[in-house]
Amino acid sequence: MSFGVCYYPEHWPPARWTVDAQMMRAAGLTLVRIGEFAWANMEPAEGQYAWDWLDRAIETLAGAGLQLILGTPTATPPAWLTRAYPDILRVDANGRPRDHGTRRHYCPNSPTYQAYSAGIVTAMLGRYGAHPAVVGWQIDNEFGGGQTARCYCDWCAAAFRRWLQARYGSLAALNEAWGNVFWSQTYSDWAQIAPPGARVDKRSPSHELDYFRFSSDAWVAYQQLQIDLVRRYAPGRVVTTNFMGLFPDLDQYDLAAPLDLVSWDNYPTGNPERWRPRLYAPGRDSRRNDPTYAYDVGEPIITSLAHALTRSLKQRPFWVMEQQCGQINWGDVNPGVRPGSSRLWAWHAVAEGAAAVLYFRWRATRFAHEQYHSGLLHHDGSPDVGYGDHLRLEAERALLDEVMAAPCPPAGVGLLFDFADLWALQLQPHRADFGYLRHLFVYYEALQRLGIPVDLVSPAGDLSPYRLLIAPTAHLAGEALAGRLADYVAGGGTLLLGVRSGFKTPSNLVTADPLPGELQHLVGATVTDWQSLPPEVGWPLVAETPALAALGEDPAGFWVERLRPGKAQVLVRYAGGGAALTMNERGPGRVYYLGWYPPAGQARTLLAYLASQTGLQPIASDLPPGLLALRRAQFIFLLNFTDRPLTATPAGYTITVAPRDVWVGIAEQPDR
Ligand code: GAL
Repeated sequence: MSFGVCYYPEHWPPARWTVDAQMMRAAGLTLVRIGEFAWANMEPAEGQYAWDWLDRAIETLAGAGLQLILGTPTATPPAWLTRAYPDILRVDANGRPRDHGTRRHYCPNSPTYQAYSAGIVTAMLGRYGAHPAVVGWQIDNEFGGGQTARCYCDWCAAAFRRWLQARYGSLAALNEAWGNVFWSQTYSDWAQIAPPGARVDKRSPSHELDYFRFSSDAWVAYQQLQIDLVRRYAPGRVVTTNFMGLFPDLDQYDLAAPLDLVSWDNYPTGNPERWRPRLYAPGRDSRRNDPTYAYDVGEPIITSLAHALTRSLKQRPFWVMEQQCGQINWGDVNPGVRPGSSRLWAWHAVAEGAAAVLYFRWRATRFAHEQYHSGLLHHDGSPDVGYGDHLRLEAERALLDEVMAAPCPPAGVGLLFDFADLWALQLQPHRADFGYLRHLFVYYEALQRLGIPVDLVSPAGDLSPYRLLIAPTAHLAGEALAGRLADYVAGGGTLLLGVRSGFKTPSNLVTADPLPGELQHLVGATVTDWQSLPPEVGWPLVAETPALAALGEDPAGFWVERLRPGKAQVLVRYAGGGAALTMNERGPGRVYYLGWYPPAGQARTLLAYLASQTGLQPIASDLPPGLLALRRAQFIFLLNFTDRPLTATPAGYTITVAPRDVWVGIAEQPDR
């Protein structure tokens, strides 16, 4: 188990570095990330490198026994570069270039920027690639952060045309895939195609979806440029980058694939505040913290979802590269953090699969945008609340070491998470409050409240470990996905498909087949009609199965689809006619289709039923709100995110967990 810290030696006089290094070691920290924004210090003028300060910082930290993660500084091109070569600047959808001033103002498709990036990274690697204390490299910082995932410059336009040529081969194929017969959009020359910027009204969703895919691929390629250099000049070192949890603009599976490990930046009081409006049901989506939880812990189920996605990118232990350890500066309220909360966040990360946690940051900065952001130390260099919490964790190190060495075997339930589906529904939600993440969260939250462990899974990933696979919506369903799902069911899996599944082709056209399109044969029923419903309208439900009687207590609302069963059995029907929930036996497997968008209570009822059908055991029964039950290999955890003691029953034992505290036990069954 490693704990570490993000450190900015360039912000402090060198004389202080020795004190800092000694204090880090005294606190038990072993990892330090440095360098990721220090390009102007490393190369103050073009081609003139200044390594003395960094040599000395690295020697000071290494001399104290610390290991280093070096960040490549490409998130912050220096002023001499942006002023001399303005073609590196990112251009927004309205055609306006971003200016120099903070960070992430560059375009990954600019050949000029690629060349200068390779230059600084190669120079760093030449200097430190073989340094024994430099154990890893972080590529850049938070790709896509600050709304920079998509650029609309001329370099991007040219690269987009090349990307389309490779994808479609011919203009005829592209015109057909995008449905360009609509509104005279047919292209007769590749040069006619431009990025779908904001100067066009009512853009083609196929064109836009491909631009989202292309933009994501551009970052993957830009990242690869740097990975190749690290592999070449620093063999054997760990390569990662820091992800942003539920950040939706880039395909995180693709970015994760070439990395040795995935890490993310966890700010429990900040991220959920931003994501809550995109996750909670309409009416519950304000930016105010849910009062169930203590005021300074954030919203743990949302944080859990971000941990789970990060873990699931490789289905392996991950790192938290930046862990909040006191108040942050970029939320609405930025609540102060009391002793105990930072420790709870570290345990939460560990329970979800973290193998290392690095605090952000060592010492609160005196400069610029993040002046009000805390660190382990106050501005004056004395210990802040997070430092004290870390000392508590050191006292628990034996147990932490054991847990952090544990693998992350797949959970019993997989939730299908597909970025192209997310983007397609973002482009055409049909109703403004239909969001892919919000829909997914209904199922995720229900499973968390039931205490049933769950992974997220890519449609291209290994589906076979999951007893239950839930596709809240398998929206863009081509032959490939249909085949993979059919194989999963043929292997004995239970598949639950939700509304809007199979509605579209991978290029974002509506299927010409009866719904759910490519998935119809799996479902054994046809969706005959669908409607988005205003809040006051509901379609009464009648359960045909006693075990699902509770589903009939409330009507279906929000989004409803009526099914006509073929081979499938009807489990719930609409009182007004048509099937609402069907089940199709296919060999050893089963396929359920849920024809309405369930609110939280109905989702819990349905998932508890499916868990019992598939033999999935909750970690604990009687889980009260605010208490999370998690599992990692043989370890089970109860984490209390409230200010009152809470009790639950894991494996038949009654356990009371103190406010903002954690309980760790060993599961009796090795089973998931
Ligand atoms: C992260 C970023 C850090 C710092 C931090 C502040 O998103 O990677 O550089 O800005 O937020 O909370």
